[in-house]
Amino acid sequence: MVSKSAALKIGVLLGCILLAGLVWWVWQRQVDELRTYAPDLSQVAYVGSESCRACHQDQFAHWSQSHHHKMTQPATPETVVGDFNNATYTYQGVTSRMFRQGDEFFMETLDPSGRMGVAKIVRTIGSRRFQQYVTQVGTTFYRLPIAWNIEKKYWFNLQGLFLHPDLPDFSRHTSVWNNNCIFCHNVKGRPGMDLKTGQFTNTSVEELGIGCEACHGPGKLHVEKNQSFGWTWLRRQARADDPTIVNQAKRDKHTNTQVCGHCHGQRLPVEINNIREIMAKGDPYTPGEDLSKYYRPLDITAKVGNYSFAPRFYPDGTPRLTAYEYQGLLMSKCHTEGNMTCVSCHDVHKGRQQSLMHDEMRGNKSCTQCHASIAANLEAHTHHRADSSGSACYECHRPRISFGLLTAKRTHRILNPEPDKSLSTNMPNGCNMCHPGESADWAARYMTQWYGSRYALSAANAARPEARIAEIVRELFSRDPSARITAAWALGTSGADGRARDRKWAIPFLIEALRDRYPAVRYFAYDALRSVSGEDFGFFYLADERDREAVIARYAAWWRTLPKGADWVRPASVPLDTNWQIPAARLAAFRAELGKTEAIDIGE
Ligand code: HEC
Ligand code: HEC
Ligand code: HEC
Ligand code: HEC
Ligand code: HEC
Ligand code: HEC
Ligand code: HEC
Ligand code: HEC
Repeated sequence: MVSKSAALKIGVLLGCILLAGLVWWVWQRQVDELRTYAPDLSQVAYVGSESCRACHQDQFAHWSQSHHHKMTQPATPETVVGDFNNATYTYQGVTSRMFRQGDEFFMETLDPSGRMGVAKIVRTIGSRRFQQYVTQVGTTFYRLPIAWNIEKKYWFNLQGLFLHPDLPDFSRHTSVWNNNCIFCHNVKGRPGMDLKTGQFTNTSVEELGIGCEACHGPGKLHVEKNQSFGWTWLRRQARADDPTIVNQAKRDKHTNTQVCGHCHGQRLPVEINNIREIMAKGDPYTPGEDLSKYYRPLDITAKVGNYSFAPRFYPDGTPRLTAYEYQGLLMSKCHTEGNMTCVSCHDVHKGRQQSLMHDEMRGNKSCTQCHASIAANLEAHTHHRADSSGSACYECHRPRISFGLLTAKRTHRILNPEPDKSLSTNMPNGCNMCHPGESADWAARYMTQWYGSRYALSAANAARPEARIAEIVRELFSRDPSARITAAWALGTSGADGRARDRKWAIPFLIEALRDRYPAVRYFAYDALRSVSGEDFGFFYLADERDREAVIARYAAWWRTLPKGADWVRPASVPLDTNWQIPAARLAAFRAELGKTEAIDIGE
């Protein structure tokens, strides 16, 4: 017989077990549900970065200081950095005036119809190198033609930021904001075009600038769910990722890279006719999705009607421009055969604001994190001393051959130096960029010795006399304006031969390059000339030709009469006569080549 009290105990025990079972069952169901819970984030609403602040203070604080955050801002005394103190600036005979009334900013300049008018600034674009200004006419926003160079502190016409020859069109870059800039500088841009009238009657963005949700997707559900401690606790117990928000680092390499590639890779809709729908309803992509459902990145074969995008690429398909980092990655085995993504090197939340990366990733670590065996025997691979700049992976595999925002940026395509290709296509190579006094023939001979006969010059190229001219000098006068920029940059930077200012032989070439028809080339040439010569005669790359020629004449006279040092280095491949002048025949050949410039009209 079981006593009453014992029966009670057993009853309570059974009850407890049942209850525990029930709790366990409910818990398991919740966990299962959580694990399979996959809300469609494209249907979730955006809430803005401010909503993330309370729970993610560190990320918010770092982001607040970022150029991403400051990309598009309302014009206020805090955000406007240009000189609006009644400043004037004259270009092509038109004097623009920038002024301020209270907390409002104005630009008096030529409008596209050719009349002077006063435009009120409503938004700013950019906070790092250049600030551009946006005005509003009805429901359309326009980017104004005059911008501010933040670093050098002056006004200039936007013709000076693009890669095209001087054009008589003052207002060429007075572009519509609603259907262009809106996409890559903001969260979820919607041009809101009325398809019947073509007017932008209903333009909107979820947030100006590159807010949290530009990378993490819409956050309403995430914010709501995380209000409940139960959800957060449950999720941690279940060790499940949070399905209410996108963390690209936890996604496959494709969708991961696409989050950044969405803006850092110019693109076209998969079906070009979808452009109308995008203009009406907005950008269909939500972070975390497969970007290729909607867009394909521009490449050298891309065309719209008769318009070809090929000039944006070197002949081998390598992008010439910034904002094509995604295309660079797509062409690199490290990404296609390995797991390299943008965040292999960039750290959006903890990296230094400049380039959003840790300093170690600016060096070999960014490559040796995957290619450890090369690091283990560095000199055998690079044929330079381990502590030499000639052993820096980037310098050979990712030289600064991309143009953007008047800077020479590292290409994001991992490639090898190929001197023969440089001669054939004008695409610069890392060896010659760092050894600017040496020829392509010189580089090819060493590469053949070090890496094999496939680096020898082709018979056709070997027969050309230019193969034995300092390659960077040849490129400075080649028919490819973007190679001319890179060449000017290389001449103004320290290289294998030492500091720029010890490279006196470059001076006559850089003086001649100040005559380039492409303003951007003149900009680089002048920067380099100042570094090499140490003299600043006040050249302004967008000044009228007469004024420019006057400064060029001063430089030329200065150079002619300057006593040349006996110890100055003058590499054999550099075409100079005994007076340190470019021989007449050589100059004529350079100018003839420049006359064949392949027209390029591109640029961010
Ligand atoms: C009410 C608090 C709260 C708010 C508001 C909030 N979050 Fe979170 N978030 C959390 C918590 C809690 C986690 C989980 C942290 C953990 O597991 O350690 C999280 C995680 C994340 C993660 C990482 C997810 C993962 O799987 O790695 C991201 C990304 C994120 N939040 C972005 C955002 C963004 C963007 C916003 C604004 C739209 C936002 N959060 C707003 C509480 C919040
Ligand atoms: C396909 C995406 C895309 C489009 C469209 C686009 N941009 Fe950009 N823009 C970028 C990216 C990416 C960068 C950063 C490039 C870098 O830092 O190398 C950038 C940089 C800039 C900068 C430099 C900001 C600074 O702080 O120095 C300005 C100014 C700018 N863009 C203006 C514009 C304007 C005006 C438009 C429209 C007429 C436009 N962009 C259209 C992607 C785009
Ligand atoms: C330019 C894209 C980008 C923007 C903008 C951005 N994030 Fe992130 N965020 C990332 C990436 C990439 C990661 C993953 C980092 C990693 O693990 O390498 C991440 C990770 C996170 C995480 C997980 C914890 C961590 O730090 O790794 C949180 C939380 C988060 N972000 C919140 C925010 C918030 C809040 C904002 C806005 C204030 C924001 N993010 C803006 C790209 C972005
Ligand atoms: C292997 C490492 C690596 C990878 C992968 C990588 N980057 Fe970079 N990135 C760099 C380095 C190094 C620089 C140059 C930084 C400097 O000049 O100090 C750079 C520069 C940039 C710049 C110009 C920044 C500036 O300061 O002007 C942008 C924009 C950029 N990267 C975006 C991307 C995007 C988007 C991706 C993915 C599609 C990506 N990067 C992948 C290493 C990398
Ligand atoms: C919504 C569009 C957008 C997205 C998404 C985006 N970027 Fe950017 N990014 C820009 C624009 C525009 C700039 C130019 C900002 C400036 O220079 O003022 C920029 C600038 C940068 C820079 C240069 C910043 C500096 O101050 O030196 C780097 C590096 C960069 N982005 C990397 C990334 C990476 C990595 C990702 C993905 C994790 C990413 N971006 C996602 C649009 C975007
Ligand atoms: C996330 C890992 C990863 C990173 C980071 C990475 N790589 Fe790679 N890389 C690979 C893989 C995987 C391959 C393909 C297999 C191979 O050839 O070793 C590859 C291939 C290459 C190749 C051969 C390309 C070809 O066309 O044959 C070169 C060169 C190279 N990487 C250089 C670099 C350099 C330089 C860096 C740094 C700027 C770098 N890698 C960063 C993983 C990576
Ligand atoms: C970023 C700079 C850099 C790059 C890129 C570079 N080098 Fe060098 N190179 C140097 C430096 C610095 C020296 C001086 C000796 C040293 O430090 O090893 C040097 C020395 C040399 C030398 C021996 C001295 C001489 O001038 O005759 C040769 C040959 C050479 N490099 C060839 C090459 C070739 C070929 C490439 C491309 C495959 C290359 N270098 C890429 C920086 C560079
Ligand atoms: C002086 C120029 C130079 C430097 C610096 C350099 N490389 Fe290379 N690398 C080359 C050349 C040239 C090739 C192609 C060799 C061939 O065709 O056989 C190459 C090939 C490669 C390859 C593919 C073939 C292989 O050997 O696996 C990888 C990976 C690579 N390099 C990674 C790196 C890394 C990582 C660094 C920095 C630690 C680096 N390289 C520095 C010139 C250089």
